[in-house]
Amino acid sequence: MLSRRLLRGFGILKYEARFLSTAVKKEAENEKVVFEKKRPEVFELDGRKHKTDDVWNLSPAVRHLLNRRILREQSNPLNLLKQRIINYVHQTYRKAGNRSPLFTICENEPRIVTNFQNFDSLLTPENHVSRRPSDTYYINSNECLRAHTSAHQHSLMKQGLDAFLVIGDVYRRDEVDRTHYPCFHQIEGVRLYSKDELFGKSENPAEIFSKNEERNKEKQGVHTYDAVRVAEIQLKEFLENLCDELFGKDCQKRWIDAYFPFTHPSFELEVFYNGQWLEVLGCGIMEQEILESAGVRDKIGWAFGIGLERIAMVLYGIPDIRLFWSKDSGFVSQFAGKTPEDEVKYKEISAHPQVIFDVSFFLPENVQFNDMTSDVYDVIRTIGGELVEQVKLTDEFENKKKGKKSQTYRIVYRSHEKALTKDEVNFYYGRMITISSTPC
Ligand code: DAH
Repeated sequence: MLSRRLLRGFGILKYEARFLSTAVKKEAENEKVVFEKKRPEVFELDGRKHKTDDVWNLSPAVRHLLNRRILREQSNPLNLLKQRIINYVHQTYRKAGNRSPLFTICENEPRIVTNFQNFDSLLTPENHVSRRPSDTYYINSNECLRAHTSAHQHSLMKQGLDAFLVIGDVYRRDEVDRTHYPCFHQIEGVRLYSKDELFGKSENPAEIFSKNEERNKEKQGVHTYDAVRVAEIQLKEFLENLCDELFGKDCQKRWIDAYFPFTHPSFELEVFYNGQWLEVLGCGIMEQEILESAGVRDKIGWAFGIGLERIAMVLYGIPDIRLFWSKDSGFVSQFAGKTPEDEVKYKEISAHPQVIFDVSFFLPENVQFNDMTSDVYDVIRTIGGELVEQVKLTDEFENKKKGKKSQTYRIVYRSHEKALTKDEVNFYYGRMITISSTPC
């Protein structure tokens, strides 16, 4: 019955068809893509100007990536995941009295950092591979694109923060494959504890620091076994609970011993997912020397670093890291309008181009906008079948004087088998018009 109304509605039509290729061309023209090969004298990023020198090695491609902030795009899955983690941490960890979140969120740190921030402050050895220009993007001999969010640990502690998450895009000259991309996204977590915060207030609390002890596999020389044990339990609990939140309560996890220049002891957490062990993060007890050089003298701390792409690929079933950068509405529409806590499983889209048609019609008298929509979806799917990838209501208009309502829908066609031609799509489109004009 309802669909009859719809089909009648199709009788009055204006349409425009557009091909994706034209749309893409336009988009490229509009976007200010700076494909400049030459080294600029001055490079401006995040509101700051930086002088370049001969060490400069930013490719046009990475400069292009810097312009796009996909972590800030509403329906990007990385944004959803980021927000889900923030929501969880904010709800779970509160300041005494429960009135405000414990962790400060730092999302706006400048992406060009000094070599000191990226390497030295974190005790990265002088000859470490990560310092090579073949691994890191340098602006000049003293500044680079941050290669990890750890680069902000030192300055944020120096500013007085005791518990924070640093979130952002990081850049590495990495291999090219399904899971590596020159730009990816990380969350860094740091938490510092005073003696009271670590052991609780008591008359005879244990100590954080010990004198004249040896550094060994389990701890740094300056720490007591008690302090490391408690901090390690807190760290592991924080991260295991976060993984339960993301992957489900019963997910299998295992801790692996690891090495990082900035933590000791260090660990990696692996999660068993879809039949294999997956490394999801690195962490450890922060080297006390880093705290000291940031002016923190009486606290012990832990830190961790999570790669967001890795987790999002698993959680949402996204098979290729390049998809996070896709502007194809076949991808974007699957995440649009979702909340961070929604379960979304990505359905693979076709590699063939889309063909887009807009369809507008007047609603039969006395039919409300809402009543029309789901019937429109049904009918379009019935006629267009598997070739219809998306249908979206794009406009509604009511002419109160004439008592007429109209709606416009955008239909995106795409085949899994071949590139559709306009004529083929016209065939389906024609059928819609024919059926809709037939009295029913
Ligand atoms: N910065 C490391 C990386 O990018 C990740 C990491 C490991 C961060 C251990 C940490 C940590 O804070 O404690 O691979």
